[in-house]
Amino acid sequence: METLLPYVLDWANLLLRWLHVIVGIAWIGASFYFVWLDNSLHAPVDPVLQAKGVGGELWAVHGGGFYNPQKYRTSPAQIPENLHWFYWEAYSTWLTGFALFTVLYLFNANTFLIDRNVFDMAPATAVMAALAFLVAGWVVYDAICRVWGERAGGDRIVALLVLVYVVGATWLACHLFSGRAAFLIIGAMLGTSMSANVFFWIIPGQRKVIASMRAGETPDPVHGQRAKQRSVHNTYFTLPVLFAMLSNHYSMTYTHPYNWAVLLLIMLASVLIRQFFILKHKGVWNWNYPAAGVIVLLGVAVWLAPSPSATLSPTSAPAATSSLADIQPIVAQRCVMCHNAQLASKNIRLDSPQAIQANAQLIYQQAVVLKVMPMNNATGITEAERATLGRWFKARAPQ
Ligand code: HEC
Repeated sequence: METLLPYVLDWANLLLRWLHVIVGIAWIGASFYFVWLDNSLHAPVDPVLQAKGVGGELWAVHGGGFYNPQKYRTSPAQIPENLHWFYWEAYSTWLTGFALFTVLYLFNANTFLIDRNVFDMAPATAVMAALAFLVAGWVVYDAICRVWGERAGGDRIVALLVLVYVVGATWLACHLFSGRAAFLIIGAMLGTSMSANVFFWIIPGQRKVIASMRAGETPDPVHGQRAKQRSVHNTYFTLPVLFAMLSNHYSMTYTHPYNWAVLLLIMLASVLIRQFFILKHKGVWNWNYPAAGVIVLLGVAVWLAPSPSATLSPTSAPAATSSLADIQPIVAQRCVMCHNAQLASKNIRLDSPQAIQANAQLIYQQAVVLKVMPMNNATGITEAERATLGRWFKARAPQ
């Protein structure tokens, strides 16, 4: 039973991740669609539409059907009973994301959250700290918006303070957690604020507006302004969050000694690129933004490039080869702890020569190329040992 647990967690992981991506696509897809729709509307020529209060319409063809969405300047004379609300996409993205984070990171805090070379803490402390990031992230961000958001010229102050807070939180996370977890926690923190914006402000605001319209009153415009402000923030958060979520596939980003700066720069590049699209939707084609974004990305790529001497080039690696006998003690000392009969992380066992042979490709990929194994280098593998694993892999007879 004990040995089945990792396997069961793997399935939970698979199903939750699958669902998370599906509902995330639905959420972000709907937001992208509405941003696009809003900016693509034309003033209606039909006097009937004008009289109804329609301020913009669009004709589109999709999947064999013709569509004609219409946007009312304020609201229709009568609020229809059957009104579709967009919120489950946002909520289910958060719920599945949090469940996935729990199954993977909180259940395995020792392995995933903590890197003792970064900061040593007990697993329970790490779990509390990770949760605190999600909660405090929202509380701080929400307070910034509440205090400055409704003042004249407040948008700039809010933007500046949110920037400072994201920089501070990123620096802190990267000095508390393993790099991989830190990136994810920052993504989850911003993602939590995005969902909370929908849950605490955007949807309740819309409910109040509709309630007062149904009661025949003029709705307070502040609800619309607040919702708009929070939606704009969500628009800018989207691409940084998506990068943070995908970053765990790219160890060169989160294993760097200045990983916090790497994350911030990549997030900045994505915001610059997003800015281009936001302006383009308004009819302004400002190429400076994407150009700056691409330059930042290229700069980061050059900065992170491995130095030639650190890679396994033919000149730096002596002609010597390694055999299975040379690497068995390395694997036993550095890997077996987490890859054995009792604990087979990711269902991989490395506790026999056959198992090592069977997983040769994966060992090479994870420990030599990506250098993500041993997890957070918990067992202190040396560069020389990685090189030995690399020579063994290249020299071994094709299986
Ligand atoms: C401290 C525990 C720990 C140590 C030590 C460790 N691993 Fe892992 N390993 C893990 C965990 C946890 C996973 C699952 C990672 C994930 O889900 O992304 C894993 C996954 C893997 C995978 C599968 C990766 C994939 O995504 O397919 C390989 C291969 C692997 N480890 C090889 C090694 C090798 C080789 C070593 C020794 C050089 C090693 N591990 C040392 C914990 C460890």
